[in-house]
Amino acid sequence: MAKETQNHTLTVSGWAAHDSSGEIKPYTFKRRENGENDVTIKVLYCGICHTDLHYAKNDWGITMYPVVPGHEITGVVIKVGCNAGKFKIGDRVGVGCLAASCLECEFCVNSQENYCDQIQFTYNGIFWDGCITYGGYSNVIVADYRYVVHIPENLPMDSVAPLLCAGITVFSPLKDNGMLGSPGKKMGVVGLGGLGHVAVKFGKAFGHHVTVISTSPSKETEAKGRLGADDFIISTNSQQMQAGRRSLDFILDTVSAKHSLGPILELLKVDGTLVMVGAPDQPLELPSFPLIFGKRSVKGSMTGGIRETQEMMDLCGEHGITCDVEVITPDMINEAMDRLAKNDVRYRFVIDIAGGTSNL
Ligand SMILES: NC(=O)c1ccc[n+]([C@@H]2O[C@H](COP(=O)([O-])OP(=O)(O)OC[C@H]3O[C@@H](n4cnc5c(N)ncnc54)[C@H](OP(=O)(O)O)[C@@H]3O)[C@@H](O)[C@H]2O)c1
Ligand SMILES: [Zn+2]
Ligand SMILES: [Zn+2]
Repeated sequence: MAKETQNHTLTVSGWAAHDSSGEIKPYTFKRRENGENDVTIKVLYCGICHTDLHYAKNDWGITMYPVVPGHEITGVVIKVGCNAGKFKIGDRVGVGCLAASCLECEFCVNSQENYCDQIQFTYNGIFWDGCITYGGYSNVIVADYRYVVHIPENLPMDSVAPLLCAGITVFSPLKDNGMLGSPGKKMGVVGLGGLGHVAVKFGKAFGHHVTVISTSPSKETEAKGRLGADDFIISTNSQQMQAGRRSLDFILDTVSAKHSLGPILELLKVDGTLVMVGAPDQPLELPSFPLIFGKRSVKGSMTGGIRETQEMMDLCGEHGITCDVEVITPDMINEAMDRLAKNDVRYRFVIDIAGGTSNL
């Protein structure tokens, strides 16, 4: 059972959902004081990930209310613990999904702490001190320095925020499946939302031929124009799906709702791989024939480790990659969440928590 401890004396203003209506309301709460391994961060921006919506509405049945969502956080360091010397006051930093891990298991020692069995998340987790974690829809966050990354100086803090979850969640499986440093592959991205649009940008930056597989014909022009996709397949158009059979080496599926993997798997070449990063609340349909006739694989992937998050950030700094965002004020969070639920966002909402400090 979560509890409050004596060192939770820092009063923070934030926004929380209190029940499965998902409605977000202002919420004042306490955080721990900055410990020796912590940095305290003034939050500037926080992206609205579809995961926030799943948690706010208790889609997965695991929400502990009140939940303060937000794990695409950028801000400025305002306090540094004695062990957190790699950061200093004024540093531009980011916090993603991870708040803590055991630091000892095979995954933690190999910089894959995202797969630690004792992982604690930035919100709706229970921290080592027994307290529920609260995320970035708040003006201040206290984070263990081992789960904080530096933001390159040339990148703006608003459009970089979604890289902390959407970005690393698509970067990690691309790297893990040999799509980094091996240009010229045929890559598919299913679902052109927050995760999907970053995947397209990374795919192009890494030199691949990128096909978007989408339910939204209205996204085609932008996908090919601004985002640089090479092809666009409407997943509900059986002729287009048929024409795309056996054409792709690798597919990243970012869809947030239940769908059938069968038709999508048919787009893979023999021995191709589909990595599922979308997290629908219902089991997906996975027919065996497209798997066995094409010797195809289906895998999952969950965010990324901190070392590779920093690697991704630095790469984005070199290539000038940021996200396409709609910046909103905190009073617009509910409207934004409604629009996100209706698939009406290009391509990520980002909350201006501090109010117009984007030039920092
Ligand atoms: N694995 C991880 O570590 C991780 C990390 C972050 C998020 N996630 C999960 O990834 C999913 C996507 O997150 P997001 O923030 O990118 O969401 P998003 O911005 O809402 O994008 C999801 C996209 O999926 C497509 N889509 C939506 N409903 C659909 C339906 N019924 N059938 C087919 N396609 C549909 C839409 O693209 P089109 O209009 O192009 O069809 C939509 O833009 C969520 O479930 C989220 O919880 C997982
Ligand atoms: Zn997320
Ligand atoms: Zn561990």
